[in-house]
Amino acid sequence: MVRPARNVQGSVRLPGDKSISHRYAMLAGIAEGPSRLENYSTGADCASTLACMRSLGVTWERSDQDGAANTIEVQGRGLSLAPSTSALDCGNSGSTMRMLCGIVAGQKFTSEMVGDESLSRRPMARVITPLSAMGAEIASYEGKPPLRITGARLKAIDYTMPVASAQVKSCLLFAALLADGETRIEEPLRTRDHGEVALRAFGAKLDRKSSGSGNEIRMSGGQRLRGIEARIPGDLSSAAFFLCAAALFPGSQLTIPNLLMNPTRARLLDVLMQIGLRISVTQLEEIHGELVGALQVEGGRLTEATIAGADSAALIDEIPVLAAIAPYMEQGIEVRDAKELRVKESDRIAAVATNLRLMGAQVEEREDGLKIPGGQTLHGAELDSYSDHRIAMAFAVAALRAEGETLIRGAEAAAISYPAFFQTLEEVTER
Ligand code: S3P
Repeated sequence: MVRPARNVQGSVRLPGDKSISHRYAMLAGIAEGPSRLENYSTGADCASTLACMRSLGVTWERSDQDGAANTIEVQGRGLSLAPSTSALDCGNSGSTMRMLCGIVAGQKFTSEMVGDESLSRRPMARVITPLSAMGAEIASYEGKPPLRITGARLKAIDYTMPVASAQVKSCLLFAALLADGETRIEEPLRTRDHGEVALRAFGAKLDRKSSGSGNEIRMSGGQRLRGIEARIPGDLSSAAFFLCAAALFPGSQLTIPNLLMNPTRARLLDVLMQIGLRISVTQLEEIHGELVGALQVEGGRLTEATIAGADSAALIDEIPVLAAIAPYMEQGIEVRDAKELRVKESDRIAAVATNLRLMGAQVEEREDGLKIPGGQTLHGAELDSYSDHRIAMAFAVAALRAEGETLIRGAEAAAISYPAFFQTLEEVTER
């Protein structure tokens, strides 16, 4: 139950970025020597990745017993993993299934991968097609999980990705590491580059070249990785909920230390500034190739935004919360070219439109996006998270400016990426 608020004020320390946590856990497992990962994501998705790595013979432990620093120590076992005695359970995590596919496809054994009801509906052909071309044998249920992957000695591939997806790109780079020869991957639109940055951090060599709005990566197989010690920057996609909450209140003030500032993720900050949030960044530093900084934000007027083309790919995880606050802006938001939102943990276009309408908003739902006029007054309502963490959190934010209380059913889904979300939101809201 979320009650309306008067203001947002305070400081938020965020758990480690989910995208980076997954990749570090996987690469630490196939590196040589130990890795120490501080501020590992507290989300259930990243725990799914760790559990799968354990099933594949990787030893790891949480080194801080009170759990406060969320430090994971991983003993890398090199590129060869051990067969799991049971199916690899990826839970709700598309990142776990798609990226780990690339690693198990290059092993000398067969693996089964399963997921929950939501993951079992998500498209896997995007990884099955290129991994099969590299020599793996993959059986699926009509292109969806469960997957049965018979590993092989992979061959390098020259591949242009038809869908802009960082999960697919990382999957193929991980497979490329285990393949004979040089792999070349081209992406039509630039997506988050944590896979490339992490591979370099663990000692791999790869070449990157931008081509127009896209990107080309070349990497040779057979490279050995070595473990790292890292502090994972705060999750920028989790920060989005607090930034949008702050944006709702003129005069709000929020600081977020140790936040991920990777340019392939930070488009959100440009859009929020354009809409009217005042943002300043200090203490910029680079840790293992990832840019990190401290953010100070101050609420002002909220105008409008159009999100389309490359921006839709760059903001794919933040569109639900931007859309959820759109009715409170002066002119609202238009989102185009975002049909990928329909195949996330839920159909996020439909979920946003339905919940906003339940709160009394006028919304135009389109196949590839939404148009939401501004200047609207919303009322509290009974909403559904659709078992989707980002929908649960987006509507907790929208509810702060509604008239009356909002009940979000299935709000516990927030734990997929951010178990402490509701508690932290409560700490920074003034009533
Ligand atoms: C992610 C990429 C995005 C994003 C997901 C995390 C990643 O998915 O939605 O939450 O870590 O690479 P796609 O690659 O399918 O767009």
